[in-house]
Amino acid sequence: MEFESNDSNWDGVYYYPQLFGGVMLTAAVLGLSTSYFGGTMGFPTLPYTLPYLNNLQKKKREKRKVRVYMDGCFDLMHYGHANALRQAKALGDELVVGLVSDEEIVLNKGPPVLSMEERLALVSGLKWVDEVIADAPYAITEDFMNRLFNEHKIDYIIHGDDPCLLPDGSDAYALAKKVGRYKQIKRTEGVSSTDIVGRILAFIEDKNACDGSQESSRNDEPNGMNKSVEKSKHASNFLPTSRRIVQFSNAKGPGPNARVVYIDGAFDLFHAGHVEILKSARQLGDFLLVGIYTDQIVSEQRGPHFPLMHLHERSLSVLACRYVDEVIIGAPWEITKDMITTFNISLVVHGTVCESKSSVNGQADPYSVPKNMGIFRMLESPKDITTTSVAQRIIANHEIYEKRNAKKEASEKKFYEERKYISGD
Ligand SMILES: *[C@@H]1O[C@H](CO)[C@@H](O)[C@H](O)[C@H]1NC(C)=O
Ligand SMILES: *[C@@H]1O[C@H](CO)[C@@H](O)[C@H](O)[C@H]1NC(C)=O
Repeated sequence: MEFESNDSNWDGVYYYPQLFGGVMLTAAVLGLSTSYFGGTMGFPTLPYTLPYLNNLQKKKREKRKVRVYMDGCFDLMHYGHANALRQAKALGDELVVGLVSDEEIVLNKGPPVLSMEERLALVSGLKWVDEVIADAPYAITEDFMNRLFNEHKIDYIIHGDDPCLLPDGSDAYALAKKVGRYKQIKRTEGVSSTDIVGRILAFIEDKNACDGSQESSRNDEPNGMNKSVEKSKHASNFLPTSRRIVQFSNAKGPGPNARVVYIDGAFDLFHAGHVEILKSARQLGDFLLVGIYTDQIVSEQRGPHFPLMHLHERSLSVLACRYVDEVIIGAPWEITKDMITTFNISLVVHGTVCESKSSVNGQADPYSVPKNMGIFRMLESPKDITTTSVAQRIIANHEIYEKRNAKKEASEKKFYEERKYISGD
């Protein structure tokens, strides 16, 4: 997972005395202990008498929320990003996310796959995110850091445990560390945007090989073997644990008399269109239950290269969405009467924009039961983005992405080779 924010230029790091003044004032007024800010600062003598201070402390402590900040591009957002933000949120009360602008991404790493609007929808849709700053710089500048501390009242800047070095080799978070306002989280294993782009590119390579004819096809031998080699290279390293699912889960069933809405789908390569349709679906009831198809069903419906993300990966992405109350990990294609009874489903919805279920080649209608019961409803999909259309963007620019990916694969390989156990979750 990359929260690359360190590749551009940086003009020296030094701290602002007025920043210290501000911090000390705040700390003094709040009556917080020095350890609150990492114990790096001296304190002026407090000009209050003790009883008064105690009262003040109590009141303010109740009100004052610890605000944490984490930034990133969040292009092709996946459950690794979601998990990072979940961990960040756990280090404070309110999570502010800095979303790097399109211009900055273009400047630093080439065109993003998703537009700012789409990335904003994805990040805002995460249940751990409280605020988004939509014009974060690619590399945290000193100016921006002061804006974070003073304007946005950020207490801590959070970053993953992968080193974040500036071109001159210095630490991008040196200033935040120096003032004791930096905290680290553990990078989520098993997924990166590079991997996902790799899976999509592997798909077109295979397609080219199968189309044969042109350019002395990449593999001369019967290509069955190479296909699996190519695919396994980008196969997920994600090890699904029950703990991760618990962390993502709301751990709550529908309350008494709740109106349960059901929506099903592949939710592959979770995108802004998914967030929007889940939001609309949730508004129709009190509890949104999402059925996520098995890998096999998705494969049968869309072809052997799908799903791009496997069942557990897709489930986590959906669970991370703030509009979702519960998921069925591996939902059936057809909605049965028994399912409707089991979950007390009062409404089944389906989006108008979708890739499968367009009643292809005479298949039985999977929604015939809820339709006959009069509890089925088509939902106008607010966006026409689909998994395929996202994949198409990558395929259309595959030369750029191939190059970028080769570079990043190397650095990620290095990261995995050199990494050691770090505690945290
Ligand atoms: C295809 O796979 C074979 C092994 O089955 C390998 O020797 C060969 O180098 C592969 N070709 C490519 C282009 O990867
Ligand atoms: C089942 O859902 C309906 C709403 O459609 C609700 O009125 C009813 O109370 C629910 N049943 C239970 C046992 O919660």
